[in-house]
Amino acid sequence: MAAERARRYVAAVANRRVAPDEQDLAALARFHESFPMEQVDPREVLAMLDEVGSPATVASTGGRYFGFVIGGTLPAAVAASWLAAAWDQNAALRVMSPVAAELEEITLRWVCEALGLPADCQGGLVTCATMANFTALLAARHALLAKAGWNVAQDGLFGAPPIDVVVGTEAHVSILKALSLAGFGAKRVTVVDADSQGRMRAGRLPKLSDRTILCLQAGNVNTGSFDPAAEICPQAKAQGAWVHVDGAFGLWANVSPKYRHLTAGFAEADSWATDAHKWPNVGYDSGIVIVRDPIALRAALTLNAAYLEPSARREPMHHTPEASRRARGVELWAALKSLGRAGLCALIERTCAHAQRFAAGLRAAGFEVLNEVVINQVLVSFGSAEITREIIRRIQDEGTCWCGATVSQGKTAMRISVSSWATTESDVERSLEAMIRIARAAL
Ligand SMILES: Cc1ncc(COP(=O)(O)O)c(C=O)c1O
Repeated sequence: MAAERARRYVAAVANRRVAPDEQDLAALARFHESFPMEQVDPREVLAMLDEVGSPATVASTGGRYFGFVIGGTLPAAVAASWLAAAWDQNAALRVMSPVAAELEEITLRWVCEALGLPADCQGGLVTCATMANFTALLAARHALLAKAGWNVAQDGLFGAPPIDVVVGTEAHVSILKALSLAGFGAKRVTVVDADSQGRMRAGRLPKLSDRTILCLQAGNVNTGSFDPAAEICPQAKAQGAWVHVDGAFGLWANVSPKYRHLTAGFAEADSWATDAHKWPNVGYDSGIVIVRDPIALRAALTLNAAYLEPSARREPMHHTPEASRRARGVELWAALKSLGRAGLCALIERTCAHAQRFAAGLRAAGFEVLNEVVINQVLVSFGSAEITREIIRRIQDEGTCWCGATVSQGKTAMRISVSSWATTESDVERSLEAMIRIARAAL
């Protein structure tokens, strides 16, 4: 029954309106009932979930969803998640799930290979890039303070030698959240100027030291731009700083010979955060943290108790903030195996080509594209902030496609992020037609 209903959903998703309509949203009221006193037949539960829930989803697995940076899950990843749900494995320790531990180890190796990172790095599978940034910062904090003779796990942060943190003006907000979670307040952070595309200006870096964490970005959420890591990393490393890279989606450009130049220099860093639920189109939640020094990651995160005896092999739980969790590596493995390097490269290049087509089509229609379209992100202005916001609202309401708004370098823009394997040329043409028609009617 679940398979049948899911199959129907998947078959219809390409042709339905992208955002749910008012009626479908209003029907969600049916869920608002008191906690049932009696048991309900699971078939009835599932039927209600499908009948009320499915129409109120956003069709982000269809080909015409361009909001945020949201990939559509790959068939192999969905299928693997069904099997993994039936397995219901706890991926905390190898003894709890040998298959989960093994697949995690293998996929982390594959991810390092895809991103061009050293093969002997260690990593963990977390919920999202925000948590991956946070986890990497915990490792950085632990390692830098240990070098200064301070054990943060034992002695905490009060009274610890100060650590300086340096970020770019356009660092993603998740870095700021991760820094605050890790005990580095916003006021302690030195912010380095960015250029017109949001790239950190290498010439404006302050003096760094072995008590500095420098956060670089591979893939600006608005423009798609990359900080000049090849210029910055060697200087930062020479001064003893810990370099962390937020590469939530951009780092995956490394799999394509056409776009690899953008990721030059990032492999010299000490830690990296990325998401497989963005560009590689694995289902949620699929954040990945990778750290060059495996000891730094483990020292920050190891959990010991007599009943949680580790094996001699890598233990997943010692590489993430969580203990019990689902076996995220299963879907990641299935997605990467089904794509192979060639499929992943084709996905990256295809979505970038679609972004170029959007930019060209919108420019040809007389609208201003605000960014250099270096990867899969396009920013378009339809005129004033008010007009641009009104046109975005109408595009969302009309339902052919979905794009969100942003403000980039003081200008309000519509963001087009082409991140799904499912987007076809005809999806792009259909969406362009709708955008241009709606924008012209509004002007
Ligand atoms: C550069 C960057 N970092 C971090 C994030 C946060 O990702 P998540 O929602 O998976 O935590 C995003 C989201 O788009 C991003 O673009």
